[in-house]
Amino acid sequence: MIGAGRVAGHLSRTLNTAGHRIVQVISRTPQSARSLAEVFGCSWSVNVEEGIAEADLIIFSVRDDALQTLIRRLHPGDALVVHTGGSIPMDIFKGQARRYGVFYPLQTFSKERVPDFRKIPMCIEANTAEDEQLLLDLARQISEVVIKADSRQRLTLHLAAIMVNNFVNHLYVLAEQILEKEHLSFDLLKPIIEETAAKAFDPGPRKSQTGPAARNDKIVIEKHLDLLSWSPDIQKIYKVLTDSIRMEINK
Ligand SMILES: NC(=O)c1ccc[n+]([C@@H]2O[C@H](COP(=O)([O-])OP(=O)(O)OC[C@H]3O[C@@H](n4cnc5c(N)ncnc54)[C@H](OP(=O)(O)O)[C@@H]3O)[C@@H](O)[C@H]2O)c1
Repeated sequence: MIGAGRVAGHLSRTLNTAGHRIVQVISRTPQSARSLAEVFGCSWSVNVEEGIAEADLIIFSVRDDALQTLIRRLHPGDALVVHTGGSIPMDIFKGQARRYGVFYPLQTFSKERVPDFRKIPMCIEANTAEDEQLLLDLARQISEVVIKADSRQRLTLHLAAIMVNNFVNHLYVLAEQILEKEHLSFDLLKPIIEETAAKAFDPGPRKSQTGPAARNDKIVIEKHLDLLSWSPDIQKIYKVLTDSIRMEINK
């Protein structure tokens, strides 16, 4: 395992629980490499150039901007090499490894929360049919949702995931700030957040849209914009989203 962060930590534990032996952890800082390696009682290093002769599979799970440089420094030999990124093309390995692919878990990870990999879609790609099959089989050992996705499809999934995760979460942050202005708790929004997420699947996002933009209620929209006069930035986001909802309704 190269990297010892959020994905590397959860994925290596999950693979280990599924019966696979983690033979080495390589990471940038000694503390993080050592503490993950201790979980498996395996060796650790901060040096990618070191031989990883024992490994059948080398998983890069490092920051996307460090990947290219690290790949150039690795000599994988006959091992299959994969990365776990959503937006990085598989061809990043071209010319650097003979056998390569992608093992992308479509989920948001944090250190504190233990993910249930069985429910996490695993997106697989490889440069040969044989290794694609190998990665599909491996993914099926940890997840019930395994798909083949080429680099463009994976980037598309990543983009859609950013919309429903990062962008929605940013709106939570802004909602929290808006509530704080009147000393109101963000927890009061829990039922509506849960109900909105549930309705996204049944009856689906398009049919679930409610609110002043969907009704074209200009009086309420003006009241909200007026209440937001303390933040021109949030006003801008409110207007863009309102216009986008109007366009969608009028299609
Ligand atoms: N986070 C998510 O929700 C998520 C979801 C799906 C896929 N991914 C993908 O998974 C990969 C890892 O993401 P992450 O969120 O797990 O990252 P992370 O928690 O930020 O951890 C990054 C790891 O990369 C290591 N690293 C950074 N620069 C390095 C270098 N120059 N040499 C060696 N190791 C280096 C760090 O080492 P030290 O700890 O030793 O400093 C750290 O262990 C990325 O490709 C990301 O796009 C992330």
